[in-house]
Amino acid sequence: MGFRTLDDAAPTGKRVLVRTDFNVPMEDGRVTDDTRLKAAVPTIQDLRKAGARVVLISHFDRPKGQRVPSMSLRPVAEPLSRLIGAPVAFADDCVGPAAKAAVDALKDGDVVLLENLRFHPGEEKNDPAFAKALAELGDLYVNDAFSAAHRAHASTEGIAHLLPAYAGRSMQNELEHLERALGTPERPVMGIVGGAKVSTKLDLLENLVGKLQYLAIGGGMANTFRFAQGYDVGASLCEKEMAGTAKEILDKAEAAGCQVLLPTDVVVATDLKSYAPSRTVELGQIGPDEKIFDVGPGSLQQVLDAMSEARTLIWNGPLGVFEVPPFDRGTVAAARHAAELVKSGRLIAVAGGGDTVAALNMAGVAQDFTFVSTAGGAFLEWMEGRILPGVAALSI
Ligand code: 3PG
Ligand code: MG
Repeated sequence: MGFRTLDDAAPTGKRVLVRTDFNVPMEDGRVTDDTRLKAAVPTIQDLRKAGARVVLISHFDRPKGQRVPSMSLRPVAEPLSRLIGAPVAFADDCVGPAAKAAVDALKDGDVVLLENLRFHPGEEKNDPAFAKALAELGDLYVNDAFSAAHRAHASTEGIAHLLPAYAGRSMQNELEHLERALGTPERPVMGIVGGAKVSTKLDLLENLVGKLQYLAIGGGMANTFRFAQGYDVGASLCEKEMAGTAKEILDKAEAAGCQVLLPTDVVVATDLKSYAPSRTVELGQIGPDEKIFDVGPGSLQQVLDAMSEARTLIWNGPLGVFEVPPFDRGTVAAARHAAELVKSGRLIAVAGGGDTVAALNMAGVAQDFTFVSTAGGAFLEWMEGRILPGVAALSI
């Protein structure tokens, strides 16, 4: 799919509406993780250098079309201004007189951040009138919010049809890396998919088994697969009603030549507490009130060996309950092994999804991965093989 980038734009002296994703973690009106702010910096700086008038638009949280004061984007302006080393003005509304006045006040190279798009119901409804009101504030439109591209909203979809539309640097970077991981990857390609439930990752698993040579399944969803094969998983999280579906996925994988790696040994405990008494057992030896919280050393070794064979790795979801030690061991060891392989030039490793990024950060290796997506839901939908509306709207 082709799209225009900033290299194709002539933004000097123009008002450029940039859709960012500033839906950042915040506590008591302070940004606690500025990853998504940093992701927007290259686009903002390129536009400033070119003498554009930069108008930043974003959603924050889910105010459902109401003006919810605790969901204001105002607290973002200051940390962003520090990152770009220039003032970031703020306007109390993203359309109407307040927005227009703030945009009119810009000189070439200046930046303004407009208030939360989702304070207006028209945003999520992709209301043409709201898209038009936004479009009136700009001459060009840049979408730099891959992580919101799975939403067909006015600021991600509708507006792209009203102004000359371009992918920003972060959007471009995401799309290029994801293409490299799953579109036209170097083989063998391995996936690691974890997380609690098969039911939330069904489409993703079905898409992946047709594309991967190895698929390691971890987290709670692995229990459902093992249950489907007839193993007793004790008191572990398990979606018994998904057993049939799990079996179909395994059959599909086999037919497609995708080797599925499921845990052979596991770490179990009766309580999910830090350093709760736990033991490592083979499958088939789990007590009736024990729960699986991590992969065991044998299972981990399988994952590491496949990773060493692979040339490309795509990772979504932890192998165990990494938030609660000692059940972080499998995930951390796998993350570190991947990072080593990347550093030695033997692996391209791409990861995404909120939990996954938190796990890589905890393992201290996020910066060593080839690419870590800023997206949660959009990354999943992309892994499901879907066309994201915000990306489709940019295509030429
Ligand atoms: C995210 O945080 O994943 C994106 O900003 C999208 O947010 P949403 O799930 O509220 O649409
Ligand atoms: Mg979210």
